[in-house]
Amino acid sequence: MHAIVCYEHGRPEVMQSVEIPQPEPATKEVLIEAEAIGVNYVDTMRRSGKHPAAPQLPFTPGIEVCGRVAVVGGGVTKFQVGDRVIGRCITHGAYAEYVAVEERFTVFCPAAINAEQGASLFVAGQTAYHALLTMGQVKEDDWVLVTAAAGGVGLCAVQIAKIQGAKVIAAAGSTEKCDLARSVGANATVDYSKPGWPERVREATGGDGANLIIESVGGDVAKGCVECWAAGGRMVIFGKASGKPAIVSGDELLFGNRAVFGLAVGAVIEDEGVMREAAECLDAWLEDGKLRLHIGQVYQLCDAAQAHRALESRATVGKLVLRP
Ligand SMILES: NC(=O)c1ccc[n+]([C@@H]2O[C@H](COP(=O)([O-])OP(=O)(O)OC[C@H]3O[C@@H](n4cnc5c(N)ncnc54)[C@H](OP(=O)(O)O)[C@@H]3O)[C@@H](O)[C@H]2O)c1
Repeated sequence: MHAIVCYEHGRPEVMQSVEIPQPEPATKEVLIEAEAIGVNYVDTMRRSGKHPAAPQLPFTPGIEVCGRVAVVGGGVTKFQVGDRVIGRCITHGAYAEYVAVEERFTVFCPAAINAEQGASLFVAGQTAYHALLTMGQVKEDDWVLVTAAAGGVGLCAVQIAKIQGAKVIAAAGSTEKCDLARSVGANATVDYSKPGWPERVREATGGDGANLIIESVGGDVAKGCVECWAAGGRMVIFGKASGKPAIVSGDELLFGNRAVFGLAVGAVIEDEGVMREAAECLDAWLEDGKLRLHIGQVYQLCDAAQAHRALESRATVGKLVLRP
């Protein structure tokens, strides 16, 4: 089968388009024939070797796929050949025509969405859900500040926060990105490429600042978030797309009764019940039209390097998808 393989860590060019044997599903795994493959920012970090859990070389990148079950391994009870499913790939990479996925990380693709949207749902949806609900305990009338708000996770977070009855300030790196976040429901937007943006967050919240901050950029953006963080507020840190970690001082927590949480979604979904509960909510919101998945661009699988370049240069909105 056709697949992308990294034989070394490094720039996007290290992703080679090659022929490798089609995998066989192990016990409790299904083999999925890919219709669409999701591209995530973490894929770029694993490829470059900057992620602490970068796979051992050589490896096939990619952590999510939407397609049909082609073969079921022994002991699989939930799925049959032909089922349209979404898989969260842990042991095998998704940038391939076929991938074996553990049954416990496989869900049915909601009827309301197509394969490209299916390949965009699991990682962005589960991350936004657990950042807001499981860790952030979002409440009605909270002011929620979402960074990288026009990205894959960000657009889901804006919409899920609104579904929970919160008010949302979408923060992003350009006017166009802010406009997109507003179009999915953000109450206010700030462009953090412009100076003084934390003050605009304070103004939008009547002076108090944001009660809940959903933060994935780190560096100066995280620093700005701390400047517009309400007393008693929470912050969920789940990424550092700038390459620099968020730094939050103990004094900010101590003198403001604030709390900061980290989120590694891979660990949260180890609890299959928690993962399926979130998946059911996401399905229901898609079905009701309350949640929409925005596909920024579709690439051929062999053009995965182009997709990574676009993601790393902040040139993208929504989710990027590969077609095998
Ligand atoms: N902890 C977890 O379990 C988990 C799970 C999924 C995702 N994540 C994290 O969540 C974040 C969003 O993931 P995603 O796949 O949806 O990506 P994404 O948000 O679609 O793309 C990353 C965005 O980060 C922003 N950014 C700021 N500085 C950047 C820089 N120097 N280089 C590149 N991007 C920069 C850009 O938006 P602006 O131009 O608007 O700033 C860019 O569009 C990532 O940080 C990812 O690692 C974490």
